[in-house]
Amino acid sequence: MKKLLFQIDTDPIPATFDTVVAYDGGADHVTALGGISPANVGAIVDGAIFTRAPKEKKFTAIFVGGSNMAAGEQLLKAVKKKFFSNFRVSVMLDSNGANTTAAAGVACLVKSAGGSLAGKRAVILAGTGPVGQRAAVMLSREGASVAITSRTIENARKACDHIQASFGIEVEPIAAPELDDRARACEGAHVVFATGAASALLLRESDWKANSTIQYMADANATPPLGIEGVDMMDRGADREGRACWGAIGFGSLKLAVHRACIAQLFEAADQVLDAEEIYARAKAMA
Ligand SMILES: NC(=O)c1ccc[n+]([C@@H]2O[C@H](COP(=O)([O-])OP(=O)(O)OC[C@H]3O[C@@H](n4cnc5c(N)ncnc54)[C@H](OP(=O)(O)O)[C@@H]3O)[C@@H](O)[C@H]2O)c1
Repeated sequence: MKKLLFQIDTDPIPATFDTVVAYDGGADHVTALGGISPANVGAIVDGAIFTRAPKEKKFTAIFVGGSNMAAGEQLLKAVKKKFFSNFRVSVMLDSNGANTTAAAGVACLVKSAGGSLAGKRAVILAGTGPVGQRAAVMLSREGASVAITSRTIENARKACDHIQASFGIEVEPIAAPELDDRARACEGAHVVFATGAASALLLRESDWKANSTIQYMADANATPPLGIEGVDMMDRGADREGRACWGAIGFGSLKLAVHRACIAQLFEAADQVLDAEEIYARAKAMA
């Protein structure tokens, strides 16, 4: 029985990145469709769930992608709404690569910490984007108390409200528009994860060096200037002044491996929904 993946993308043109990883993850055939929304996904889901016998449904799966995580979340909701009884197939959400990127970064931080972040304070710099919000969920599930910064308190609150509504997790919003504000936001933090837009410098080297509590740092930005000055994008747990540091390329190989492994996992059973927590569990096992 051929493993069929329907890659449904909320952007007009489906991401070739996700198509390549889908094949590398073990799909025999990938149908990549762009411009998919809750309004037009119904027939696609029907075709996936009504065609194969119950034991064979696991060989059909759905991947939700696109550059917009909020649109991806709505599309996942619409896909799940079509499922009933055992008329369902497994589905994975990784819009913007946010789940796999956040999962790999957090899993590497946890690995550096010896397997647990229980009781630690984690600050996610510029955590209002899709990667930052997913990382907040994962760090919180690891037992850390989590705060996210934004240039505006409105954005920070909006992101925290969204996380609370989607995952039932409390995250502290912090307004930190300038470098000095972000240095202050990191006071008392043990973990710092920078998840800002490409080329946005978020934390100066002199500021983290002057901070006596930070133990673990990761930066998702691979486009210079990087998010955390003095952390190299290739860092793989590098010791810098006693802090374990992970750069975007350093944990990027795990991100790709996790993405592939999750695609393979989709074809193991027909009842899986791979979102932040499931993808993080995979990353943690692989780190
Ligand atoms: N390795 C990978 O495979 C991979 C995959 C996906 C993403 N990434 C990288 O991961 C990072 C996060 O991705 P994302 O899509 O979540 O990011 P994003 O949505 O583009 O940006 C995250 C936040 O950065 C803040 N920001 C934007 N410009 C800024 C500036 N000039 N100064 C300070 N803050 C600024 C914004 O927050 P406020 O407006 O609230 O301040 C924004 O919500 C990016 O660097 C991206 O390139 C890597």
